Amino acid sequence: MSSAVRTQVAIVGAGPAGLMLAHLLHRSGIESIIVESRSRAYVEGRVRAGVLEHETAALLEATGVGERMRREGLVHRGIELRFGAHSKRIDFEELTGGKTVTVYGQQEVVKDLIAAGLAAGGAILFEREVVGIDVDRDDRAALRCRDAGGPEQTIVADFIAGCDGFRGPCRAAIPRDVLSFYDHVFPFAWLGILAQSPPVSHELIYANHERGFALVSMRSLTVSRLYLQCRTDEDLALWPDERIWTELRARLESDGDGPAVTAGEVLQKGITPMRSFVCDPMRYGRLFLAGDSAHIVPSTGAKGMNLAIADVRVLSRALATYYEHGKSDLLDAYSATCLRRVWKTQRFSTYMTGMLHRFGEHGPFERQVQLAELDYVTSSRSAAKSLAESYVGLPFERDAPTRTHALSLTTESRFE
Ligand code: FAD
Ligand code: PHB
Repeated sequence: MSSAVRTQVAIVGAGPAGLMLAHLLHRSGIESIIVESRSRAYVEGRVRAGVLEHETAALLEATGVGERMRREGLVHRGIELRFGAHSKRIDFEELTGGKTVTVYGQQEVVKDLIAAGLAAGGAILFEREVVGIDVDRDDRAALRCRDAGGPEQTIVADFIAGCDGFRGPCRAAIPRDVLSFYDHVFPFAWLGILAQSPPVSHELIYANHERGFALVSMRSLTVSRLYLQCRTDEDLALWPDERIWTELRARLESDGDGPAVTAGEVLQKGITPMRSFVCDPMRYGRLFLAGDSAHIVPSTGAKGMNLAIADVRVLSRALATYYEHGKSDLLDAYSATCLRRVWKTQRFSTYMTGMLHRFGEHGPFERQVQLAELDYVTSSRSAAKSLAESYVGLPFERDAPTRTHALSLTTESRFE
């Protein structure tokens, strides 16, 4: 037996993309239902990204879900780049006319959005897996979901938002021949830990070391988030805590002029692959892909969650225009609008990844070029400004793609 429920927008996935979309739609008076295969405790405990771009933080604040972030988030005004014997700071605030980033864990954003959604009477169906998607009709879309052992339920909607991450069912529901995939898998991964230890430094440190890349980040003034470049097939069993701390000290040169690394209890440990992926277009009929379901960026630029939120901002505005004015031009422009930002973000994440990691295939020539790039970006104001502008996040784009891309970008506000 199958029962059917109707809504305006059915959202698959309660990650940052799905939750933020439901929040923005609710503010525009548009009804939605989120279907999430995992439990609330699981999605609220999943440790992932940690850096919010300037505009992402501003969007949370402007839409009433930024109160805890403002209290507990850590505003960062720059980052440090370490390479060879050098340690250089990139001053975001000074280089971007006052912009900063906020260190606030993805799972905290997720908790805040779930609390706001439920308080507003929103429907979030946890532990309900989407098992079928039907977007072949012109007049409506539908999905089928089920919980463990329960009957299947059908949700009929005007639109489906596929916010179901890289391995979810939505992208797979689109005929393969209408999609182009762009994919690149990097020949290394990140070993990440969350540790009960004070931050190594008050700002993030990205280190390019002979032994491989290391990143020092944090979640609070007592919890550190630390990463080491490792093999793609790395065996975590070979990395007892002590080895991780020793390796971090070596890559940060703690014994020399580097910052002191204080070991603490390791709360979580995991391997994150490094991959770039783009699916074009991000729409098929009444199905719209957003966030990781449409694109993956390597973590070096700290962009994954920010990009997911930028997508749903565009989608929510397009849907609001559709419901308010009966106009579908912004929906029609959705994919192209998002992909312009996606590719610029891929460019930046690829650049940061290439500049900071050790590549097995690099010989002495490539190594010197890499060090020269670091020297350049930390000594040329123009190069540092470019890095800072992308790191704090490009301004949100206009909702429709420009008809021409004439080279008239004489002022930065042209992007607005
Ligand atoms: P997700 O957060 O993946 O959410 C998708 C949701 O869909 C999930 O909750 C999933 O359970 C649900 N779902 C999937 N299939 C179904 C189904 N059949 N039915 C119902 N629900 C379903 N980015 C950074 O910038 N820095 C980092 O350090 C970083 N670390 C990461 C570590 C890992 C292990 C991963 C996987 C990603 C990491 N990222 C990082 C990327 C960043 O976290 C993502 O870009 C972000 O989570 C994207 O949000 P999303 O809402 O698009 O997708
Ligand atoms: C994190 O804190 O998890 C983090 C910070 C910066 C990155 C990637 C991850 O570039």
